[in-house]
Amino acid sequence: MINSIIQNFLKVRNNFKLICEPLEIEDYQVQTIYDVSPPKWHLAHTTWFFEEFILDRFIPNYKRFHPKYAYQFNSYYNHIGDRIQKDLRGMISRPTLNEVYKYRDYVDEQVNSLTKFIKEEELIEIAKLLLIGINHEQQHQELCLYDIKHIFYTNPLKPIYQNTEMRKQSTIEPIFIDLEAGLIEVGYDNKTDFAFDNEYPKHKVYLNPYRIQNRLITNHEYLEFVNDGAYDNFEIWLSDGWDFIKSNDIKTPMYWENIDGVWQEWTFSGYQNLDLNKPVGHISFFEADAFAKWKNKRLLTEFEWEYAHRRLEHSNEEGFFSEELDNFKVLTKKNDKNKIYQMNGYYWEWTSSPYGAYPGYKQAKGAIGEYNGKFMSSQMVLRGGSYASQKAHMRPSYRNFFQSDKRWLFNGIRLGDDI
Ligand SMILES: [Fe+2]
Repeated sequence: MINSIIQNFLKVRNNFKLICEPLEIEDYQVQTIYDVSPPKWHLAHTTWFFEEFILDRFIPNYKRFHPKYAYQFNSYYNHIGDRIQKDLRGMISRPTLNEVYKYRDYVDEQVNSLTKFIKEEELIEIAKLLLIGINHEQQHQELCLYDIKHIFYTNPLKPIYQNTEMRKQSTIEPIFIDLEAGLIEVGYDNKTDFAFDNEYPKHKVYLNPYRIQNRLITNHEYLEFVNDGAYDNFEIWLSDGWDFIKSNDIKTPMYWENIDGVWQEWTFSGYQNLDLNKPVGHISFFEADAFAKWKNKRLLTEFEWEYAHRRLEHSNEEGFFSEELDNFKVLTKKNDKNKIYQMNGYYWEWTSSPYGAYPGYKQAKGAIGEYNGKFMSSQMVLRGGSYASQKAHMRPSYRNFFQSDKRWLFNGIRLGDDI
């Protein structure tokens, strides 16, 4: 078991290099907003995670690559100690990128040699920590793509990450699918190798009959919302949402731009004419909620989403998972009334559920318990997965979570309704 985990570790680690290949050395250092971390920081922080939680603990007399990297690359673990402020990550020029890649190689070799040191009784614990480290690295690879998109967008020269010809999307007729749920089971179902602690324990919830839209909301529908003056109609906005859009002068999704009368969207392949059939992305929870109210509908709860994911037959035509960013397959077998579309690999879907602990949840002791548990306030749950998510993360119980005003991540809207 441990050997296959280490093989997967090496594959995942190499993937980060591939993601960063189109970057120039200067791009690795930029932090455009508080939420963005420099790509160099992501590369080092994910490496530090393995060093801190596994190598230093299980390899006798382990020699850290650098004694001060724990200070520099600890993100938020109070158990581990002081660290640089998050908003200063972009201000720190050293270590160089070259040194960071050497750090990655060093840690990769050490992890690769772990089997020599493992004692029988430590095997399960190490396997568990390696899986957390791999999944953590995959989450950061996705975050790093959000950040690269923003870094290039912020640059007046508008650099291009990849040169992809966008496929013109076809329409999918919007249909609401009715679901009778009742008392259902939610949470991690043991069908995959790994789940985060916030997906436990499995438990029962009661759902009233509801309906779910078969696809995500399109740019066309969102443009109607914009053109209807929705951003000036206080009636549909939550109070915090109204304050947020007014104080930040928000009138469209984050990457929309009206250039010479033509709506365009910033993508990894530069500005592209807005494809009206494409799902809308880069909206805050506040905007998703206001849109739903404008349509006389509502967002789904996270459990309605999870039940629908398990219960309904999916279209086989899913997203691209970080190969051709911002570019989706053109759906051919559309308008199958019984199938649900775009649940995996398009955009994370805002739900109406606040992020909290499941009944019986126990935060693990020590630093590893800080991973998810301490963030269970003032954030909303997103379900599904984006085109930058790893396939391994596409499970019905996976819970993503962000504050309601976040728009730089790859998020979208699916509507629900009462029956
Ligand atoms: Fe992290």
